[in-house]
Amino acid sequence: MDFSLNEEQREAQKMVRDFVQKEVMPDIGEWDRKQEMNPSILPRMGELGILGICIPVRYGGQGFDYITLGLVCEELERGDTTLRVVMSVHMGLNSLALLQWGTEEQKQRFLVPQARGEKYAAFCLTEPNAGSDAAALQTTARKVGNKYILNGEKMWISLASKAHHFLVVARTDPNAPKPSAGLTAFIVTSDMPGVTTGDIHGKLGVRAGSTGWVKMENVEVPEENRLGEEGEGFKIAMSCLDNGRYTVAAGATGLIRACLEESVNYALERETFGKPIAHHQLVKQKIAWMRQWYDTSWLLVMRAGWMKNQGVRNTRETSLAKWYATDHSVKAALEAVQVFGAYGYSDEYPVERYLRNSKGAVIYEGTSEIHTLMQADYALGFREDRPLRCELPAYDAEFWQAEA
Ligand code: CAA
Repeated sequence: MDFSLNEEQREAQKMVRDFVQKEVMPDIGEWDRKQEMNPSILPRMGELGILGICIPVRYGGQGFDYITLGLVCEELERGDTTLRVVMSVHMGLNSLALLQWGTEEQKQRFLVPQARGEKYAAFCLTEPNAGSDAAALQTTARKVGNKYILNGEKMWISLASKAHHFLVVARTDPNAPKPSAGLTAFIVTSDMPGVTTGDIHGKLGVRAGSTGWVKMENVEVPEENRLGEEGEGFKIAMSCLDNGRYTVAAGATGLIRACLEESVNYALERETFGKPIAHHQLVKQKIAWMRQWYDTSWLLVMRAGWMKNQGVRNTRETSLAKWYATDHSVKAALEAVQVFGAYGYSDEYPVERYLRNSKGAVIYEGTSEIHTLMQADYALGFREDRPLRCELPAYDAEFWQAEA
């Protein structure tokens, strides 16, 4: 086992770390307070190649591996959760699905502009009445000639009002033997007549980001925009989540690091009872926990990333990394606020933002409860990882870095 990062991985990590430190951290608190997304963030992430970081060069990307994707997400969330959320939907839940399931024509039309950062992408599974029970979704897709007519509403969609491309899961067969078998995935574009979007306001966290809804009223989607076969929509959605959850886990690891670094700095400066609070045992306990949670999360993320590089199915390992890292990012943020005392309770310091941001990730992309049940089901033998019709392709540096 080799835990060292190669030169390319370290370079990408440093590039994103510098971007976050210089261009994000100075004013992210202001954007969070305004509850607005800085309009320069998405174009800048595109310019730096972050939006296509692990997509092969021939499809407009930078050709890095899946471990680099994890490292990048960690750095982004060290700055703010909203930046990592961009990667979760644009890359994890959408671009990687196009790489995995798309036809060559779909890759050229949709993946290339996404990887170049010319178009932004989102993922539409969740609905007002279907979250954890994703197979219960009600959006319909009716086949008429060589088109599908889509009707329905998607909710809690990150980048809803910013994205140009949506990966939408809809019901094509209401009489399928089980609900999950009647779903199909489509690529819907925001300029199709009948598509409307809007933002959700008043969120606890990810306030400097974009979360909203997507409504489809008699949207005509050509057959060539269907991703995979009819009836494969649920599997595609779950495979997307294998990648999205990986980015969430990596990001949560960055949030734990943010809590640790801010707490260490503060504990070394702030004095009580005649010495820096870093010398009080109960403060040390909190710092030690954060260190433990950071390292454990990082190792779980790296294992999942390594498995992705090998092209090995990693649903269980990714779920475990997501569950552990996000649960512990909430704990780390709570402890960080406690280290800061009353100052931690105000927005003078970033830790209250970390606490608000941490909570979303134990809800989206599978609640902690769903991941708990999945882990139990794997251990009990009720669930197993079977080969898919189409796996996320193993990382092959020669192919990834070659020009078309
Ligand atoms: N990859 C490919 N196929 C998979 C798969 C995966 N990871 N997981 C399951 N499947 C396949 C199964 O093999 C099965 O195939 P067969 O019918 O051929 O046997 C099929 O999918 C159905 O599987 P199950 O009936 O066993 O369903 P499940 O138990 O796997 O799913 C569940 C139940 C775990 C609760 C699942 O519904 C789930 O994960 N729910 C949470 C959904 C979620 O995370 N939503 C967040 C979406 S994020 C969003 O929309 C907004 C945003 O912007 C972030």
